[in-house]
Amino acid sequence: MPTESTPRDRVAAVVMAAGKGTRLRSSRAKVLHEAAGRSLLHHVLAALEPLGLGQVVVVVGHQANDVATHADAFGMAGLTTVVQEPQLGTGHAVEVALTAVARDMDKVVVVNGDVPLLTSDVLAALADTPAGVAAMLTAEMDDPTGYGRVLRGGDERVVAIVEHRDASEDQRAVREVNAGMYAFDRAGLDERITAIDSANDQGERYITTVVEHLVADGSEVRGLLVPVESIAGVNDREQLAEVGTILRRRHLGALMRSGVTVIDPAATWVDVTVDIEPEAHLLPGCLVTGATHIGAGAVVGPHTTLHDTEVGAGARVAQSSCDTALIGEGATVGPFAHLRPGTELGTRGKIGAFAEVKKSTIGAGSKIPHLSYVGDATIGAGVNFACGAVTVNYDGVGKYPTIIGDGAFIGCDTMLIAPVEVGPGAYVAAGSTITDDVPADALAIARSRQTVKEGWAARHRGEEPAPD
Ligand code: UD1
Ligand code: CA
Repeated sequence: MPTESTPRDRVAAVVMAAGKGTRLRSSRAKVLHEAAGRSLLHHVLAALEPLGLGQVVVVVGHQANDVATHADAFGMAGLTTVVQEPQLGTGHAVEVALTAVARDMDKVVVVNGDVPLLTSDVLAALADTPAGVAAMLTAEMDDPTGYGRVLRGGDERVVAIVEHRDASEDQRAVREVNAGMYAFDRAGLDERITAIDSANDQGERYITTVVEHLVADGSEVRGLLVPVESIAGVNDREQLAEVGTILRRRHLGALMRSGVTVIDPAATWVDVTVDIEPEAHLLPGCLVTGATHIGAGAVVGPHTTLHDTEVGAGARVAQSSCDTALIGEGATVGPFAHLRPGTELGTRGKIGAFAEVKKSTIGAGSKIPHLSYVGDATIGAGVNFACGAVTVNYDGVGKYPTIIGDGAFIGCDTMLIAPVEVGPGAYVAAGSTITDDVPADALAIARSRQTVKEGWAARHRGEEPAPD
């Protein structure tokens, strides 16, 4: 019996993703739903990618265009999609896929598209099955309801797979289930795929029939028993949440092993797409998603939301919400800051309590410490943008820019009516409403002079007679 495995570049993967996913009760195809920040389909592709297989064929059907576009968006070398229409069962899905598998592929690995917990190790075991031998993944389940049961002969060899709905009472007592993932020699599969009947309760053409035909022909089919966690499929939204929890826990585990401190993993939600450098600290209550990157030694949280955000080394972000923002090294954000898309905070800058910033660049060491709104602004280095100062960037129709030079001092409660420019080193007095540009190193005061009326309040209270 041959024991050599097929070279990986001559192994093709078929990902079955044509099904509807009725139990999710969604208008979106099942494999497009996300767990831990990545679609179910992309999780499967991410597990396949490191194997370096020669080809990956994704079978699409329900919402074919959306699923195909999404599969392509993963950007994997050798990935193609085929449309299965109508969907006549898993055997039919593989038959359609084979029309797209290149001639020089000697082995075909078949994978379900709705199993996001799959790991590269488990897939490698399938892909490296010796030539001449077929294999399938199996798992022991406490409650195997709904799954196909694996029937083994006296010599422990796989003999057949019976779907739950087709199984007898005795067969239903079997706890070893078919994970729906297989490795076949190309030649044997080509030969048998068209010979599958639909003599079952669903009237579908089952890929499992190929396994039975192989066994009947005297070929070996190995049942590779793997941890049930790695093959769990998603059928409803409860399972979607459960796999999300497991995927995030796995990712946090890897981050902690690489040197990231996580105070309480159960209360920290970090998507698998997020990258965090060693010696960063995550305090409880953080939701970190998208292409966020957190630099070494940064401290994030508690209770902070970061999406597509870059947090520089040594920065501190507390109780804040940041979306598509860039936070410089050693900068401070929060508590209670809102950084909206396009915010760029320079090295050792500060955006403090109840400040909101949108589409603005804030130079190194500049401070927006409290109660401000900054939008469409370019602020230089070393600027103090004091409490309550606001860029008035919107007139109900257009948005206008504010430019503030290095070292300028914007006093408390200043309204900067954009478009407007404050030159480097200039001062704007507190309470000013600035409508005209302020030259470099000037002082602008734009408020009415104070009037003092002696004794007015006492008279108002009736404590003193009115003056004659
Ligand atoms: C299948 C297996 C069952 C196994 C289970 C594991 C068969 C007959 N049964 O059952 O033994 O225990 O997986 O999860 O294979 N699909 C298509 N085109 C089709 C039909 C299905 O692409 O025409 C795709 C689905 O999108 C899904 C996968 O194939 O990703 C499995 O199909 P599904 O109908 O969910 O099979 P199960 O009943 O779960
Ligand atoms: Ca299924």
